[in-house]
Amino acid sequence: MSQLFTPFTLKDITLRNRIAVPPMCQYSAIDGYTQDWHQVHYPAIARGGAGLVIVEATAVSPEGRITPYCTGLWEDGQVDGMARIAASIKAAGAVPGIQIGHAGRKASANSPWEGDDHIAAEDPRGWQTLSPSAIAFGGGLPQVPKAMTREDIARVQADFVAAAKRARDAGFEWLELHFAHGYLAQSFFSAYSNQREDDYGGSADNRGRFLRETVEAVRAVWPEHLPLTARFGVIEYDGHEEQTLSESIALVGQLRDRGLDLLNVSMNFVIPEVKVPWGTPAFLAPVAQRVRRETGLPVASGWCIDGPDTAEKVIATGQMDLVMIGRAHLANPHYPYQLAQALGVAQPAWTLPAPYAHWLSRYRGPGTASAQ
Ligand SMILES: Cc1cc2nc3c(=O)[nH]c(=O)nc-3n(C[C@H](O)[C@H](O)[C@H](O)COP(=O)(O)O)c2cc1C
Repeated sequence: MSQLFTPFTLKDITLRNRIAVPPMCQYSAIDGYTQDWHQVHYPAIARGGAGLVIVEATAVSPEGRITPYCTGLWEDGQVDGMARIAASIKAAGAVPGIQIGHAGRKASANSPWEGDDHIAAEDPRGWQTLSPSAIAFGGGLPQVPKAMTREDIARVQADFVAAAKRARDAGFEWLELHFAHGYLAQSFFSAYSNQREDDYGGSADNRGRFLRETVEAVRAVWPEHLPLTARFGVIEYDGHEEQTLSESIALVGQLRDRGLDLLNVSMNFVIPEVKVPWGTPAFLAPVAQRVRRETGLPVASGWCIDGPDTAEKVIATGQMDLVMIGRAHLANPHYPYQLAQALGVAQPAWTLPAPYAHWLSRYRGPGTASAQ
């Protein structure tokens, strides 16, 4: 019997299966406001059958956007579009989640199809980036960020709290704090990007302060009965994997003690020169399992889940509680239906809406003779 297609309950929220769609930027917003594209994209994916759909990295402040085209929740006018997205995901039977974050020194960038490179602060489309220390990321992102003052830190944390309240008002039921991928929170925890001499820098304990305080502040406003989660990079493939991993796991335990309900296990991406084992399917699964075992927290993870057998295995062997499947959903929003077919799961009513399910239960692909 498939474990992938069993429900998962966290706090008062039950997902219909263990498949989650991770946040994926659409780079299609204007001034942080969602557009028609978002209103089509999210429900299309949600009706495909995943248990959880997490809306893309949404900035807590204008300078926290990765690109000028990222979504935001820094002003009340942005709530309405997000509320329609949350409602449409829910109507399709999935739990609506959202990731909120601040891009730090990786902000003010062009979209991937424009080159992914920095837009200079002087460019009318760009802005001055912020980071714990005035150290550029490097590579295609050479802009030197402003080292944050304590007032900047307090302001960004207040922005996280305000965005979390707006996410709640929009009807999201699952909140993910973006603490990964070299963005602001991740760059506080990494000694590569954080060389502060105050109590936000130095020891691993000090470098974790920004993240601990942010979890505490958001937990105070995010409803107790709803899951508060974070995506956090626990490993950097830079030759010092073990040290980063053990420091990260210690921090995750502290975040758990402050009310975090689940960790979405990911990578640091704090420096450009890393050797990620891209060719290996589910290469992060053993890392996720270790975080789960050593912290006792439920975990989600993903990256290069290459098909039904891998998706089933990472759940059935207890490496993770939820499996994040991203690009396969872009290629085919009904991917969970394919997974169910491949794993021999009897077609449950939820996998496809009735107007599709009736036909697809008989259809065997293009070129087949039967068209009734
Ligand atoms: C178009 C695109 C946008 C992404 N945007 C985000 C994002 O907003 N936040 C995030 O944490 N990860 C983001 N990611 C990473 C994905 O969430 C996911 O981890 C990655 O695609 C690997 O999973 P996959 O192999 O199943 O696609 C993005 C990936 C893609 C392809």
